[in-house]
Amino acid sequence: MAEDNLSAQAITEGLKTRFIGQRVLYYPSLTSTMEAAREAVGQGAAEGTVIIADEQTAGRGRLKRTWLAPRGNIALSVILHPALSNLPSLIMLASLGVVHSIETVTGLKAQIKWPNDVLINGKKVCGILIENEFLGSRLTAAIIGIGIDVNLKLADFPEIRSIATSLSDELGREVSRLKLIRSLLVEIERLYLPLSAGGSQTRPYIALFDEWRDSLVTPGKQVRVTAVDSVYEGVAESVDIDGSLLLRGLDGKLTRIVAGDVTLRE
Ligand code: BTN
Repeated sequence: MAEDNLSAQAITEGLKTRFIGQRVLYYPSLTSTMEAAREAVGQGAAEGTVIIADEQTAGRGRLKRTWLAPRGNIALSVILHPALSNLPSLIMLASLGVVHSIETVTGLKAQIKWPNDVLINGKKVCGILIENEFLGSRLTAAIIGIGIDVNLKLADFPEIRSIATSLSDELGREVSRLKLIRSLLVEIERLYLPLSAGGSQTRPYIALFDEWRDSLVTPGKQVRVTAVDSVYEGVAESVDIDGSLLLRGLDGKLTRIVAGDVTLRE
């Protein structure tokens, strides 16, 4: 195993951020960092608090799926206190933060499959789950959960081998989780800081949206989208400023899809 002292101190020491990752709660094992983050929010955790687990025993994916997160990979949640108007931008900044940090630390080129799966050579290397906490109608926090297959040997997981990859499988060598986590926290803060309460009316939001849209593999592709309550087929025509997917159905009708999972048909 590569050098990998995952401790709160190793992550925070000299980290060049103002608040993201300045407080890290590290656990050798957790059911899910999302659960621990939700508890931390309930106890008034500061914005930028990061919950990280060496392994998760009941990791959660989007659309009520499970997420495999054995040791050697990254499973973390970041607590943010965004303005309501910036909620849609979180899928954009989280996935771009992952893409940038993977490129910086490993040199590998990554792309985004709508809404926020990160792919390398067409296979998923990272999944992102965002959950929002409300008190009545007031947004108290957003929790960004990020799982990256860093040193996963896909040969040991034949059931996901055709659709998933890991950084170590792509590179043929192990990758330092510590370097990747530190780079990721810096990148997320760099993309988050310029946002202001004006949301999608502001330049920083629009710049973030433009970069996210241009990093998507999906536009123009024939896709199947599994949403919470139905399955859609058609051409992924474009994305809207709020992050939703605009799908041109086989009947020519344009449907706006807010949340779902895309399978590329080509
Ligand atoms: C998906 O692609 O379905 C999203 C996967 C999100 C996994 C991460 S790992 C850290 C955090 N804790 C969880 O239980 N899930 C997210």
